[in-house]
Amino acid sequence: MTKATNITWHASTVSKSDRHAQNGHGSCVLWFTGLSGSGKSTIANAVSSALYRQGINEYVLDGDNIRHGLNKDLGFSDHDRTENIRRIGEVAKLFVDSGAVVTTAFISPFRSDRDQVREIFQEGEFIEVFVDCPIEECEKRDPKQLYAKARRGEIKDFTGIDSPYEAPEFPEITVRSDLLTVEEAVNQILSYLQEKNIL
Ligand code: PPS
Repeated sequence: MTKATNITWHASTVSKSDRHAQNGHGSCVLWFTGLSGSGKSTIANAVSSALYRQGINEYVLDGDNIRHGLNKDLGFSDHDRTENIRRIGEVAKLFVDSGAVVTTAFISPFRSDRDQVREIFQEGEFIEVFVDCPIEECEKRDPKQLYAKARRGEIKDFTGIDSPYEAPEFPEITVRSDLLTVEEAVNQILSYLQEKNIL
């Protein structure tokens, strides 16, 4: 692949802070990370609905959905997962620039990939939300029967089985999805956003 040359950054005339002022709230990414079946999508969507009801400019980027379109050329090798997360990071940055509170629900198993995404954001804009659930519980839930398939060898490179998951060391928020209800998890996250004056 040949990289583009002769390209120049064009600053937009409406700034992020103009958008914050018009919206009446700040913008950030709630970067959910956790095992398959840990509850990322469920909690991310519940947060999004709660924000929507409060009139907040919000959006959800979800792993399975993005892999139907933007990232349909990517699989689950380490290399492809890294590229998946890099692209989502860039998309999330555009949403944050547009003034939205964006939630992303990707396994994002590698610490270095998440840390690289953190680096493209300004201080306080990247909020890592660790959806912490023991793999035994995820496997018991197995809503898409993917663990069962992985155990039978029908899916390879499955996170937690034959592909690693590196839990965050210092996430801004840890949600114990095996202990909390969805509503409690949502309240925990909304409280954090209020504390940080994003809402
Ligand atoms: S990653 O690791 O962040 O690039 O993965 P992500 O884009 O979030 O996609 C995870 C969803 O893809 C389905 N799926 C798999 N997950 C993990 N490992 C393998 N091999 C795999 N194959 C398919 C699965 O539905 C994941 O969704 P969630 O919501 O996490 O269960």
